[in-house]
Amino acid sequence: MVFWSNRRRSGVNSEVKPLIALDGVSRVYPRGRVTALREVTLEIRSGDYTAIMGPSGSGKSTLLYLACGLDRPTAGRVLFEGRELKAPAEWAELRACRIGFVFQSFYLIGGLTASENVEIPMLGRMRSERDRRKRVAGLLERVGLGHRTGHRAADLSGGESQRVAIARAMANSPDVILADEPTGNLDSQSAGEILGLLEDLHQREGVALVMVTHDPGVSGRAGRVVRLFDGQVVSDGGRA
Ligand SMILES: Nc1ncnc2c1ncn2[C@@H]1O[C@H](COP(=O)(O)OP(=O)(O)OP(=O)(O)O)[C@@H](O)[C@H]1O
Ligand SMILES: [Mg+2]
Repeated sequence: MVFWSNRRRSGVNSEVKPLIALDGVSRVYPRGRVTALREVTLEIRSGDYTAIMGPSGSGKSTLLYLACGLDRPTAGRVLFEGRELKAPAEWAELRACRIGFVFQSFYLIGGLTASENVEIPMLGRMRSERDRRKRVAGLLERVGLGHRTGHRAADLSGGESQRVAIARAMANSPDVILADEPTGNLDSQSAGEILGLLEDLHQREGVALVMVTHDPGVSGRAGRVVRLFDGQVVSDGGRA
């Protein structure tokens, strides 16, 4: 297993190589022969705040899954800090400690408490149970859920569930968070709060943020907007 050091925290310059690079990446789903992405080349750098936009079916989720190794390209390469990873276990290791993922529909384990959901990624990484508990409590406090730590995830509201999912994504202090329409299932007030939380992590801790959104109000706050259409990047840069 590869040991990935966290260069951002250790202060070593990680600007040289992009965190994540897609190099001529295509993804064809055999079922229905759908070309979800066509020769996409894109770099995510340390500290970026990027919004991914595009119509439904344009390949946004596919792009995020490929960027963190949850899916594999049909053609092209996906690199992390300049290295092409082949083994699923290497990607799993990265998702455990360098890349956080936030899904539109949360994907918490309903029968476990908020605390237990956040603790899971720390198991095997932080040996001391006391340290894990302390970090879990700190993260849940940070996302405004200090009063819901013992609640079963299944009993939480949508906004609360997404807060837990963000705390879980932050469990091992990743360098980048990929968020797939993280506010898509929330009312506008909760959506604003979740967005504020993610932006706070970006601003205060330098976590790179890549967020799929349909909302021009959200993309207008990102430093960079990448637009997809029919599986291709049709524009990349500037604000919305
Ligand atoms: N497992 C799959 N098998 C076959 N086709 C798929 C599969 N997953 C996605 N697709 C197709 O690939 C295309 C891109 O899908 P994707 O989910 O990336 O779109 P999206 O931009 O995220 O859309 P939305 O905004 O609706 O979430 C769509 O045409 C979709 O139907
Ligand atoms: Mg999608």
